[in-house]
Amino acid sequence: MTVVRATSERAIILAPLGRDSQIALMLLNEAGFDGVISRDLAALCGELEQGAGLLLISSEALMGSDPEPLLRLLEQQPAWSDLPIVLLTHHGGPEHNPASRIGPQLGNVTFLERPFHPVTLISLVTTALRGRRRQYEARDRLIDLSQSELRLQNTLETLEQQVEERTAQLRHNEEALRQSQKMEAVGQLTGGIAHDFNNMLTGIIGSLELLRRRLARGRTEDLDSLIDLGVTSANRAAGLTHRLLAFSRRQSLDSKPVEMNTLVVSMGELLQRSINESIRLDIQLSDNLWVAEADPNQLESALLNLVINARDAMPDGGKLVVSTCNQHLDEDFTRAHGNLGVGDYVVLSVTDTGCGMSQSIIDRAFDPFFTTKPIGQGTGLGLSMIYGFSKQSGGHASIQSEPGQGTTVSLYLPRFGGDLPQDQPADRQYDPFAYHGETVLIVEDDPAVRVLVCTVLSDLGYAFVEAADADSAVPILDSPQRIDLLISDVGLHGMHGRQLAEIGRQLRPDLKVLFITGYAEHAAVRGGFLDPGMQMITKPFTFDLLTAKVQEMIRI
Ligand SMILES: Nc1ncnc2c1ncn2[C@@H]1O[C@H](COP(=O)(O)OP(=O)(O)OP(=O)(O)O)[C@@H](O)[C@H]1O
Ligand SMILES: [Mg+2]
Repeated sequence: MTVVRATSERAIILAPLGRDSQIALMLLNEAGFDGVISRDLAALCGELEQGAGLLLISSEALMGSDPEPLLRLLEQQPAWSDLPIVLLTHHGGPEHNPASRIGPQLGNVTFLERPFHPVTLISLVTTALRGRRRQYEARDRLIDLSQSELRLQNTLETLEQQVEERTAQLRHNEEALRQSQKMEAVGQLTGGIAHDFNNMLTGIIGSLELLRRRLARGRTEDLDSLIDLGVTSANRAAGLTHRLLAFSRRQSLDSKPVEMNTLVVSMGELLQRSINESIRLDIQLSDNLWVAEADPNQLESALLNLVINARDAMPDGGKLVVSTCNQHLDEDFTRAHGNLGVGDYVVLSVTDTGCGMSQSIIDRAFDPFFTTKPIGQGTGLGLSMIYGFSKQSGGHASIQSEPGQGTTVSLYLPRFGGDLPQDQPADRQYDPFAYHGETVLIVEDDPAVRVLVCTVLSDLGYAFVEAADADSAVPILDSPQRIDLLISDVGLHGMHGRQLAEIGRQLRPDLKVLFITGYAEHAAVRGGFLDPGMQMITKPFTFDLLTAKVQEMIRI
């Protein structure tokens, strides 16, 4: 029976003298080993390239032929391989075995002196082959390892690719979500405005209609209540636009140094009246409070809004704390709240023991028109106005709340950095009417507003000149016409009001200017916008305010 063995297990035999090779092969075959006989060293090298378990070489085979190719092959073995070689020598020293000199260069060599006992040869070959098998095992493990490494590498690459794809998908989803949230917010905003305005317009238009009908029939008694109805609706509409402007951070802020403690104390009674008896109001003012920089009117309205929110959160009563404190905000805090500067802030907090808010309500509470209150009880503009006001003032607003645990809303306003102004002079008293000849130039592109302002002024006895835009106002300023005051809209078409005032001042250095504005787009805060002798009032304004301002400015 022929056993086909792998070339990797065979012995390559090279013993050119007589029948040495055949005898060796026979002995090996008898012991169950495979072998092949080579004619010479070159043939042996050829066989070796096919693979071998060991070499069996007689020393004389190395004589007379160049051992270099064999040495090179041995040297080129892969790291796992150390081919065993059995070198058959002659009895005696090197003088009898000149070829054995190169023996050490062959590497893994065992010398076997002739004549040898067959058992010795077989035991040597057995040992050599066992070593060779170990080398093959090592090789296989190496291959396994590198294959696993390859698989790992592939897995890693696929993983990386999957992560990339997943991230891209997530980013896409996030973008889509943000877009839809934006649309939802815009929808909520426009829907809210339209709904509330419709109600207020109904009140205004309705009362005007009724007035007209009554007058047509000559009924003039009890018109006051109709007028009140219209004015109330209009004032509510004005309040709505103010809060919207506050939210959009485009209101005209009159920022000045504010003693927050004094402001809170002065509002104490009003706050007390706004809540019911079942709520205990506790005012905790911190000593040595820094002076804040903010618009005091807006701050008052923010505090009132917060207190009313707290009241609504405690229908069954509870405790309400209004507190103030100084706080330094470090970079860790400000970095998390974009656009907020590191520095000192004065904090106004309103804490209640009411129903609290879930995280999803906290997330939306600052959104305009977000309300959880029944229709007619909340417009959802209170916190959005507070947020916009805090941001426009260079501060911040935050909510801490847990359902059932109550709520704290904190308003951070920047510490005032300049010198404190001296005490304000007491309000002057003005004569009710204009002195003869006092003249006002009115520049306003909205005809309704222009007509109203002119009417009020002429009722008071002022002379007036009007212009619909800055271009037609300049020639008037450049004429000998008497002008005691320029009243100008800020957002005119073409050249805006501030530029007109600039030109007016070049022509008449002492010109006094009163700006009227829907919102101060060009001046987030009045301070940077107004020079001395300039003032600003925001639309819609009451005629009382307009009259007072005109008299105050002309008489100074
Ligand atoms: N102190 C609070 N405790 C519990 N929930 C609150 C508190 N303050 C505000 N909220 C929640 O946040 C929502 C929005 O408040 P926001 O002040 O903006 O509007 P509103 O009070 O509903 O209406 P508005 O203030 O315009 O009359 C409220 O409807 C309520 O759900
Ligand atoms: Mg509110």
